[in-house]
Amino acid sequence: MIAVWKSCLALSFAVHSAFARNVSNRRNETQSFSANLLEESMRWMDMYYDSERGYLFSLDAAALTHETRPSVWYAAGLLARNEDDDVEQAVKIVKNVVGSQFKNESLQWYGNYQLYPEEPTVGTKQYPPSIYGTWDPNWRGFVGTTFVVMLEEFAHLLPQDVQTYMVQSLYHTTVGDSYRVGGLNNDNLYPAYSNPSIMRAFVSGWVGRRVHDLNMTTAGEAYAKEIIDLFTRDNTLSEFNSGTYAGVSLFAMTLWAKYMPGDSLMGQHGPDMIRHTWTSLGELYNANLKNVAGPWDRSYGFDMNRYLSILALQMWTIVGKEKAPVYERPYLMGHKNDFAISPLVAILAPYHNTLVPAETLSSLNTFPGTHIVKKSAFSPPFDTYPRNITAWLSTNLTIGAESFVENVVGGPAKNQAAFTPAVVQWLRKDGSVGWLSLYAQSLALDVDVGANYLELSYPQSNETNSSFSFLVGTNGWDGKKDIASWADVEGVQVNVSGSVNLNYTVEFGGLRGGKWKPVNEFEFWNFTYGMPEGSEEVPRVRLQVEVA
Ligand SMILES: *[C@@H]1O[C@H](CO)[C@@H](O)[C@H](O)[C@H]1NC(C)=O
Ligand SMILES: *[C@@H]1O[C@H](CO)[C@@H](O)[C@H](O)[C@H]1NC(C)=O
Ligand SMILES: *[C@@H]1O[C@H](CO)[C@@H](O)[C@H](O)[C@H]1NC(C)=O
Ligand SMILES: *[C@@H]1O[C@H](CO)[C@@H](O)[C@H](O)[C@H]1NC(C)=O
Ligand SMILES: *[C@@H]1O[C@H](CO)[C@@H](O)[C@H](O)[C@H]1NC(C)=O
Ligand SMILES: *[C@@H]1O[C@H](CO)[C@@H](O)[C@H](O)[C@H]1NC(C)=O
Ligand SMILES: *[C@@H]1O[C@H](CO)[C@@H](O)[C@H](O)[C@H]1NC(C)=O
Ligand SMILES: *[C@@H]1O[C@H](CO)[C@@H](O)[C@H](O)[C@H]1NC(C)=O
Ligand SMILES: *[C@@H]1O[C@H](CO)[C@@H](O)[C@H](O)[C@H]1NC(C)=O
Ligand SMILES: *[C@@H]1O[C@H](CO)[C@@H](O)[C@H](O)[C@H]1NC(C)=O
Ligand SMILES: *[C@@H]1O[C@H](CO)[C@@H](O)[C@H](O)[C@H]1NC(C)=O
Repeated sequence: MIAVWKSCLALSFAVHSAFARNVSNRRNETQSFSANLLEESMRWMDMYYDSERGYLFSLDAAALTHETRPSVWYAAGLLARNEDDDVEQAVKIVKNVVGSQFKNESLQWYGNYQLYPEEPTVGTKQYPPSIYGTWDPNWRGFVGTTFVVMLEEFAHLLPQDVQTYMVQSLYHTTVGDSYRVGGLNNDNLYPAYSNPSIMRAFVSGWVGRRVHDLNMTTAGEAYAKEIIDLFTRDNTLSEFNSGTYAGVSLFAMTLWAKYMPGDSLMGQHGPDMIRHTWTSLGELYNANLKNVAGPWDRSYGFDMNRYLSILALQMWTIVGKEKAPVYERPYLMGHKNDFAISPLVAILAPYHNTLVPAETLSSLNTFPGTHIVKKSAFSPPFDTYPRNITAWLSTNLTIGAESFVENVVGGPAKNQAAFTPAVVQWLRKDGSVGWLSLYAQSLALDVDVGANYLELSYPQSNETNSSFSFLVGTNGWDGKKDIASWADVEGVQVNVSGSVNLNYTVEFGGLRGGKWKPVNEFEFWNFTYGMPEGSEEVPRVRLQVEVA
């Protein structure tokens, strides 16, 4: 009896010290991975910096114009790097950006920041206001949160007058952000618009406390409460599983968790929200394919190895660049401009990464084996019911889809290119990833997902809106360049059945031609199935899929 007890104790002691070693290991790894992310991203942005003007040139190198948002992200990186005249340059950027903030309180874009310094005055006859066009309401949040990170982490490097200037700017931006009400004046900021809503609640709560404006603090807490209520319904972000925006939401929730005091709902819920978000992401991640399985509420690509996602930058700080879905030269990937947010990811990683559950960490390294994931997410006022997500993940094939009933086509962002409700991905023999995705064209979709199959139907449709278009990625480097049927799609075998007409069309969406234009910089083959003429059946299609 005693012997058994003793050996238990010994085992528990061994486990504890191994655990302590692991924790310290993880801390050290995070430190070196994030230092490496900071260094690589800064080296890249250094090439774009215009020290004469104190702005970054546009990352799209548009005839030497400049750009505000990457400039402030770079400025945060300059403070973190703090070599040579880095601090001086950071201060110069900050002063430029604050100096050109919109200060007219009666305008909808009050407290916002310019998109680029050369722009004409927004709201003039020749440069009319256009939300998400000539001005972007989310930049209050992006620039504002960056200022807070600078003030929280690097105040010792910033002259007092510059700090005061930044806090004043944050005050204006918070008041301006309070003008935003989803559904009014073309604005779309609802609590379900996760990434900017989490930033809004934070900046309001932080600035309110900093300048002792109780109303502002209370407004931030009240908005946070709405976000938390939505989240805790099934412990998911409304903007679910988006390689880009889950990354922004994780960044913003880290601000809640790290900088908000215990008397704040944000301080209380932030850490668990991060843990839950990573739990879903870890369950949906397939380390063999280096991709988070679909569905993706808002995506800027179909294969994380080929477009740069903010989530992949966070993974870089957790498991290292080699194991993360990041190309060796990240600035060659699709959507590469988001590489500019790297300094913020790197600065917060030492804290953020302590909240990544052990099981998630393990899934980011090694695929744990075939399994099914079921979740739900809810985006009022666009969803009639919560969306139901099912994904089946196996060694080299993943299938994921969501059922929804919405009042818009293309998800809450009304963007058919980004809303990706049904996705299949497979590993090809050359190690690259093949994919197919349902092009979002309907208000409602029912899905059934399981081992090797994807079944989709349009519960509300009739013959006017009843075709299923699957965008299918091009073959690998050595694969066939021309595709006429499923038999030409490499690495996978697909059998189709359902109420659809089994005769389908295949059309190309190419960089230089074909019937369609690439979506999110990805070329594709558009496989379209219509309903037989006169059919009154519910449009339904079933794909039986095997890796070949
Ligand atoms: C420590 O980490 C290793 C791999 O990194 C793992 O195999 C082991 O189970 C971990 N030990 C504990 C106690 O967490
Ligand atoms: C972590 O780094 C510190 C110093 O940077 C070192 O003393 C320690 O041994 C390292 N821990 C592990 C587990 O590598
Ligand atoms: C602010 O904008 C309003 C509405 O366009 C305008 O009437 C007013 O003159 C502006 N104020 C300043 C100081 O520019
Ligand atoms: C308090 O905050 C709310 C929401 O931000 C705003 O509408 C209201 O005008 C503010 N009241 C005062 C006195 O500042
Ligand atoms: C998701 O599942 C719930 C619970 O079964 C159901 O009430 C809801 O209608 C479903 N949502 C959709 C869009 O089908
Ligand atoms: C896919 O996985 C199956 C079993 O898990 C294996 O037999 C097959 O060779 C794999 N195919 C590829 C292309 O990796
Ligand atoms: C059919 O498609 C059109 C255009 O995409 C859309 O406006 C309409 O709402 C859709 N109707 C249904 C029932 O899905
Ligand atoms: C098909 O849907 C459209 C739009 O929802 C509707 O106007 C039309 O009456 C429907 N047709 C049939 C045959 O149900
Ligand atoms: C499919 O196409 C072939 C050849 O054009 C035709 O003979 C056949 O009837 C079509 N089938 C259906 C179900 O439309
Ligand atoms: C794919 O083809 C269908 C049917 O022609 C079309 O409606 C749809 O817009 C195409 N999708 C893309 C992304 O080009
Ligand atoms: C597709 O159908 C063929 C012929 O019936 C069958 O041999 C094959 O196993 C099927 N493949 C899948 C993925 O269902």
